[in-house]
Amino acid sequence: MKAIVIYTSTTGFTKKYAEWIAADLGAELAEARDFSKAKGLRPEALPAYDVVIYGGSLHAIGIRGLAKFKPSLPALAGKKVIVFAVGAAPDRKGVPEEVLAANFSPEERSRIRLFYLRGGFDYAKLGLVDKFLMTLLKLKMKNRREDERSPDERGMLASYARPVDFTKRANIDELVAYAKAEI
Ligand SMILES: Cc1cc2nc3c(=O)[nH]c(=O)nc-3n(C[C@H](O)[C@H](O)[C@H](O)COP(=O)(O)O)c2cc1C
Repeated sequence: MKAIVIYTSTTGFTKKYAEWIAADLGAELAEARDFSKAKGLRPEALPAYDVVIYGGSLHAIGIRGLAKFKPSLPALAGKKVIVFAVGAAPDRKGVPEEVLAANFSPEERSRIRLFYLRGGFDYAKLGLVDKFLMTLLKLKMKNRREDERSPDERGMLASYARPVDFTKRANIDELVAYAKAEI
């Protein structure tokens, strides 16, 4: 089986999952920004792989870098295409469905399989725009009375002061098993 893992990562959580997945599958690994530049990693080269995996972090429910990956989908008809989204939110029931609905049309949904993997949050490593956006969110959460904040919001507020990392190698097991399974 010939597989490739392409990823976009701002603070390293998606990168960590991409590396683990590539290691388990013996797959090639490529950062998306190098994807179109490097020889052999152009979208037209993707049909040479049996399994194509794209990973990006969640930003206001959108999967980062996905717009650049989507044009490859028609050429990958009949191949196994996996997308994994990495967010700070817990992997609750309904989260993958929500991410799927927000990022893919029904037609696109029939071409891919989505997995949600919990990453973490590292405010200090964010770029200026992201820092600004997350500061707005922090103010919004802080404006709410303490007893009105959800457990997720309390956890999120605490994570601004020091990074939190929820990545676990076992989180990739289902994805890896699906990638290895015969279609
Ligand atoms: C502007 C912004 C928006 C975010 N929106 C979400 C979100 O909607 N859902 C979520 O679970 N995490 C959200 N996050 C958290 C990131 O997805 C999380 O930190 C992820 O692990 C980052 O992965 P990376 O280091 O590979 O970029 C957001 C982070 C930023 C900076």
